[in-house]
Amino acid sequence: MNNYKNVCVIKHPLCCHNLSIIRNKNTNAEMFRNAIRRITYLLFYKATEDLELEPCEVETPLEICRAEKITSRNEIIIAPILRAGLIFSDIANEIMPFATVRHIGMYRDEETLTPIWYYNKIPVEFDEPDKKIILILDPMLATGNSAVESIKLFVNKKVPQKNIKFVSLISAPEGLEKVQSLYPDIKIITASIDNCLNKNGYIKPGLGDAGDRIFNTVEN
Ligand code: URA
Repeated sequence: MNNYKNVCVIKHPLCCHNLSIIRNKNTNAEMFRNAIRRITYLLFYKATEDLELEPCEVETPLEICRAEKITSRNEIIIAPILRAGLIFSDIANEIMPFATVRHIGMYRDEETLTPIWYYNKIPVEFDEPDKKIILILDPMLATGNSAVESIKLFVNKKVPQKNIKFVSLISAPEGLEKVQSLYPDIKIITASIDNCLNKNGYIKPGLGDAGDRIFNTVEN
């Protein structure tokens, strides 16, 4: 339970255990990536629980039986925010090989903390926007500025908010409040709601810069 409508915190023991690994500043890049991957499966278990199924028939070695498969009526779009979101999209791609991956490139202006666009693989228009299921991926939901910018991309193309989910590893209250005040019907799936942001927009206690720790570019 938490005080936010539409925010689901995965309190699974394996999430907590792996969070303790990634928060540790002495965890090296390889262990960091592996622990995130383990949490990612648990986040996606929740983020995909309401995907629509359709009936089908399959022939087992013994007989024909009824089964269910993810419907092809909807298009599932995985939208990782570069660069840290890539760690999630590898796993998302593995468990949903039928999904489309549309990268979103944004970096943060370190002074204003506003997102600056540099890449966007989202089409100018969507046909049948109500049939798109969007999973926006960013390990750190901090100020909420990049989250809002990326959600806006899809909402402006008429994708209903209820079809959009934001998946993060660690979220700050400031970011959650920002996203929820503008897009109250978007579901956020996260492994932790931390305490607050520091003056540089980093989550406390957090884990530092996720992109740097994933890609081993931490400067000492
Ligand atoms: N991005 C990060 O990688 N870490 C934070 O704490 C906030 C934003």
